[in-house]
Amino acid sequence: VREVKPMTDSDQENLRAQTRHRYAEAAREASSGRPACDCGTETCVHVEGQRGWAEVMYENDELGELPETAVLASLGCGNPTAVTDLRPGETVLDLGSGGGIDVILSARRVAPGGTAYGLDMTDEMLALAEANATEAGVHNVKFLKGNIEAIPLPGESVDVVVSNCVINLSTDKAAVLAEIARVLRPGGRVGISDIVAEDGLSRQRREEAGSVLGCTAGALSKIEYLTGLEAAGLDHVSVEFTHEAADGLHGALVKAEKPR
Ligand SMILES: C[S@@+](CC[C@H](N)C(=O)[O-])C[C@H]1O[C@@H](n2cnc3c(N)ncnc32)[C@H](O)[C@@H]1O
Repeated sequence: VREVKPMTDSDQENLRAQTRHRYAEAAREASSGRPACDCGTETCVHVEGQRGWAEVMYENDELGELPETAVLASLGCGNPTAVTDLRPGETVLDLGSGGGIDVILSARRVAPGGTAYGLDMTDEMLALAEANATEAGVHNVKFLKGNIEAIPLPGESVDVVVSNCVINLSTDKAAVLAEIARVLRPGGRVGISDIVAEDGLSRQRREEAGSVLGCTAGALSKIEYLTGLEAAGLDHVSVEFTHEAADGLHGALVKAEKPR
């Protein structure tokens, strides 16, 4: 996966700081009872009584099992845990776990005996996720602070990696895909919802379309995702568009496996 113009370390840290700032604000919004918004409170329109994107992406029975602030904090672009096979006893890792919605749902599905980890770099999101998991009554969860480009877990320690609308935000996507491959056990699975660009969409058009969504630091194209996952050593890779998110950009379901 090649970024068109390689970023310096300080460019990357600046972009990460902006991202952290945005999601700290989103966590505060959800904590105060309003749906979190990806594009900042100034530009978001909140409709009274609506609980945000989760109402579109998740089934009613899933929403019914979740604390209200987990639903309000949902900033995903799909429902990766619904389409990923999770079994009791397994270890799941959610990259960019936000308010914890997919960690809580995963934790229930890997019980008894399994563990769901959530990794996020934003303190306010980690605090909200911890509170949501406690309110949901799930105990087999662990939230970790860190960057998805350097996952703070040992190699071959995870059965399933999920992620919901986070990898498009990364300033070093090749590092994220390599880290996913490193932490997965042989035979481990990947189920990711993300924003993905159509092949052939120019970098400039990707940025224009991304700025409409307000959350993409340069989405990968479908072919870049596929070749990036293969280059990281994963197989059975697929990228399926699920809905149009902006002109040329789609919500997508990304799947892969680590060879045994
Ligand atoms: C769009 S929100 C998605 C949250 C959650 N997955 C969901 O579906 O609601 C992005 C989350 O990823 C986190 N994040 C963004 N870039 C990250 C990075 N490089 N490393 C760790 N966390 C990151 C943000 O702090 C934020 O909580």
